[in-house]
Amino acid sequence: PAKKIAVVIGSLRKDSLNRKFAHELIALAPTSLSFEIVEIGELPLYNQDLEEHGATAPQAWTHFRQRIKDVDGVLFFTPEYNRSVPAPLKNAIDVGSRPYGSSVWSGKPAGIISVSPSAIGGFGANHHLRQSMVFLDMPLLQQPEAYIGGAANLLGDDGKLNNDSTKQFLKKFADTYAAWVEKHAKQ
Ligand code: FNR
Repeated sequence: PAKKIAVVIGSLRKDSLNRKFAHELIALAPTSLSFEIVEIGELPLYNQDLEEHGATAPQAWTHFRQRIKDVDGVLFFTPEYNRSVPAPLKNAIDVGSRPYGSSVWSGKPAGIISVSPSAIGGFGANHHLRQSMVFLDMPLLQQPEAYIGGAANLLGDDGKLNNDSTKQFLKKFADTYAAWVEKHAKQ
């Protein structure tokens, strides 16, 4: 059976470039992977008081944690905000990492693609996200690195990739990630 991959997108906006690239990658990926986009926009900001000392965790947190628990791997698409990870994405990572000792991220093979209209391709966000992944013990694909710069110009008016070399690159990334998941997924 195909390995289940959660796609987590660090932008909440409707016309997100990151979301468009996520859809393009999903379309190019091998059938050994099946994808579901797991939304993060409705997660309350992480606050220990909401689930400790007898409090019951918000349902959105519980639901999110379960969805990540149920997949074999996680693929992150992130914009760069002020050279770092957008707050909603960091919040989702924090929510999934708690309660202490029950992180849902642990051991899930991960990949990161940063997408930006600017030339640097979200390098800062990409690497800040890596920093969290190290602590969360997620086997993280190292190569190919994916910093998609000038992203607005790579998509046509229909929101689809209009650039063959980027298409080939995304396909290569997806194939390499599929092999990575095969090697590192738990079940
Ligand atoms: C940005 N943007 C941006 N871009 C970049 O390359 N480096 C950066 O540090 C920042 N900083 C930043 C901060 C904030 C608060 C916003 C709202 C935006 C621009 C950003 O790359 C652009 O808005 C992208 O289109 C965001 O990704 P989505 O929403 O298209 O996926």
